[in-house]
Amino acid sequence: MDKIEITGGIILRGEVAISGAKNAVLPLMTASILSSGESVIGNVPHLRDVRTMGSLLAHLGFGFHLENNEIILNTNKITSVDAPYDFVKTMRASVLVLGPLLARTGKAKVSLPGGCAIGARPINLHIMGLEKMGAKITLSEGYIEAKAKRLKGAAIHFDTQTVTGTENLMMAATLAEGTTVLENSACEPEVVDLANALISIGAKIEGAGTSIIRITGVSKLKPLDYSVIPDRIETATFIAAAAITQGEVKIKKCMPGHLEAVINKIKEAGVKISNKNDKLTVKGPERLTSVDIKTVPYPGFPTDMQAQFMAMMAVAGGTSLITENIFENRFMHVAELRRMGADITVEGSTATVKGVNSLKGAPVMATDLRASASLVVAGLAAEGTTVIDRVYHLDRGYEKIEEKLKMLGARIRRVK
Ligand code: EPZ
Repeated sequence: MDKIEITGGIILRGEVAISGAKNAVLPLMTASILSSGESVIGNVPHLRDVRTMGSLLAHLGFGFHLENNEIILNTNKITSVDAPYDFVKTMRASVLVLGPLLARTGKAKVSLPGGCAIGARPINLHIMGLEKMGAKITLSEGYIEAKAKRLKGAAIHFDTQTVTGTENLMMAATLAEGTTVLENSACEPEVVDLANALISIGAKIEGAGTSIIRITGVSKLKPLDYSVIPDRIETATFIAAAAITQGEVKIKKCMPGHLEAVINKIKEAGVKISNKNDKLTVKGPERLTSVDIKTVPYPGFPTDMQAQFMAMMAVAGGTSLITENIFENRFMHVAELRRMGADITVEGSTATVKGVNSLKGAPVMATDLRASASLVVAGLAAEGTTVIDRVYHLDRGYEKIEEKLKMLGARIRRVK
């Protein structure tokens, strides 16, 4: 199991280019199921999760090729409609094959995702929506078996905003008979990117990015030829890395407009951030100021940035209250940050972070994707050396992170 070793205290300087968004490319890959032919997806990050999704699509009978940040998918033939537990347990986003498979073939057998480090993460809303569209769904031996001659448009209301729930049902509705209205939809940029891609291949979708999305089914869609948006969470993670090391970093190929809530909070913490088109310039202060955050659905402060922001607040001057409203157990990084000398107490869904003068390097363990990113951010500022174990979590969502940080002057290396 690889580890990452960081010697902290270096001021980061230079330029870094952001890769394509993990949470945009994964639904886009499953959208290729909706049409037969050769789909091409550009600006694809070389991530573990992309390879996992590629193997799942290959398991369904597709040709999958990833090279130079481009995916080619040959979706002429579907030889299987099942997503086995092995795929789903390593990547919950596998559940995104459910809607497209049902829409294209009328059947799907997808393993129920197990639990996850950050929370129960049920998919009851995905199932509720598909049943409303006429699918017959049975659960047996840990699998969802879904059947539908042809899905029918329906009015669907989400009790909770769900990103992949919105994406699954939006994809299913593109080939359904009639119109589907999704109410209380997720508004994340990745949902909008998926909608734009579907519209580009002939889907009729209005309202993506708002809480009411209207989809009118069509009989056929063309193969994809689409490039994904930059990763807003990778961008925010590099802003945090510059902010915590008094750095001066230019971040290229990003979309500042997808990060307003994060940029506003990080500016409140004393960081100078200027943006021009697809570039951000970040200048970290001598010492960060403590700021409170609450995670909420887009366009509010994203839960995927909570752990990295906490690392910044661990060394800020003052006390910061961090409230996690999306997932019930997304404070796994707290115990690891404490090992580095952070002063954090957790009460229910709120962590109280009392800034300390500096963190101390220590051996720590990654527990989930964004927790591992938080430990990297903390390690960059800590005195001494931090060794992060189980970095396969990090590799799920960050393309070449140690190379990008090395280019900014960080003393970081991967230890096999
Ligand atoms: C997506 O997960 C992202 N993953 C997550 O990113 C992100 O943290 C999350 O959205 C929230 O923004 C992808 O896009 C692949 P949800 P998703 O359904 O869709 C509850 C990362 O680090 N819920 O929006 O699984 C759920 O339990 C990952 O890149 C139900 O109750 O999240 C949660 O509390 C982590 N029933 C809340 O809704 C359902 O049927 C939001 O979950 C579905 C969700």
